[in-house]
Amino acid sequence: MLKVMAVFGTRPEAIKMAPLIKELEKYRGEIECRVTVTAQHREMLDQVLELFGIEPAHDLNIMRQGQNLFDITGRTLYGLRRVLETELPDLVLVHGDTTTTFVAALASFYLQIPVGHVEAGLRTFNKHSPFPEEINRHLTGVLADLNFAPTARARENLLSEGVKSASVFVTGNTVIDALLAVVRPGYRFADPVLNQIDYDNSRVILVTTHRRENLGGPMREIYRALREVTEACPCAEVVFPVHKNPAVRSVVEEELGGLKKVHLIEPMDYQPFVNLVGRSYLVLSDSGGIQEEAPSLGKPVLVLRDTTERPEAVEAGTVKLVGTARNAVAGETMKLLSDQKHYEKMAAAVNPYGDGRAAQRIVRAIRFWSGLSPEKPADFLPAKKHR
Ligand code: UD1
Repeated sequence: MLKVMAVFGTRPEAIKMAPLIKELEKYRGEIECRVTVTAQHREMLDQVLELFGIEPAHDLNIMRQGQNLFDITGRTLYGLRRVLETELPDLVLVHGDTTTTFVAALASFYLQIPVGHVEAGLRTFNKHSPFPEEINRHLTGVLADLNFAPTARARENLLSEGVKSASVFVTGNTVIDALLAVVRPGYRFADPVLNQIDYDNSRVILVTTHRRENLGGPMREIYRALREVTEACPCAEVVFPVHKNPAVRSVVEEELGGLKKVHLIEPMDYQPFVNLVGRSYLVLSDSGGIQEEAPSLGKPVLVLRDTTERPEAVEAGTVKLVGTARNAVAGETMKLLSDQKHYEKMAAAVNPYGDGRAAQRIVRAIRFWSGLSPEKPADFLPAKKHR
């Protein structure tokens, strides 16, 4: 029996690991899948565990209000030592670029446990942006024994850094597996505010912000741009699920609180959120995952960052990096609202990130690596652009 332990801690990791855990569970006879959550996020994580019916074997419950990187790193490292020494899995699976990800890879390495890195090889090549994620992902790549690169570009990045090609599998991104499982036509929201919005006649702008490098001044600029857009364009309506971080909340409240055309709501559960992406006109976000989800749903995304580790959708034309300066954010948003041709060009649905079978390929790769199967999975190849 191959014992595999998935370790994650934040909401996006949980969303992207869920399809993989479900796929591993199909091989009960030969693979034992255990889940450990650090709970770097609490409420936001628990929603996803419940949606996908995942019951962790271990919960380190590390989150504290106002936690910093030292807190997360220290609590995770010591918490995982205990779990991994008791469980001694044959393989630890981590996802992406959070501090949970890097520390879980480090703890596994200290105990000489092989590590599989899901969503490996994304790079901005800027150590400070996103901070600390770029370095978290890089260091996890150095420690990993198996690298599941979502795209050919991510694979190239790893190979150029000297990662052995036999350890790299191009799988597509599991975010698309998750998306296909939860987006439904005619989906009804539980929140009445979201059902009352006239999606056909107004232009709904969905906004999210949480990145550490945007806290403070850059976020204030973004919110002022939003205020300008709603004042200038009568049809624009903003829906903004506000991240739980108090440092985000205070500035949002100061700049956007009480505005009629701006709906400030609690962070949404995953299923309503991606269904809302599907109903919105466009998305403004500093998140990574939304840059992968929205293009699949044919929605333009303006990325509120100066760098992205996801250039594929930028090249395909559905995602544009606009940074955080007020004029740029307001200008690009208004251009999308007023120039139909420009909008339609960006709204062409593309799927550079996956076909819904990434989890299958990852499990095949694990079975191949461990000797359970002689068959190496074929690489994921993106389909051509379509309307
Ligand atoms: C973390 C990840 C980031 C990922 C993001 C997704 C790191 C360094 N950052 O950033 O890569 O994109 O998660 O959201 O690993 N909070 C709650 N309840 C929750 C979640 C958060 O109250 O359910 C509050 C806490 O006060 C916490 C703060 O939000 O202190 C920030 O959370 P933290 O995990 O430290 O950083 P994120 O900005 O969420």
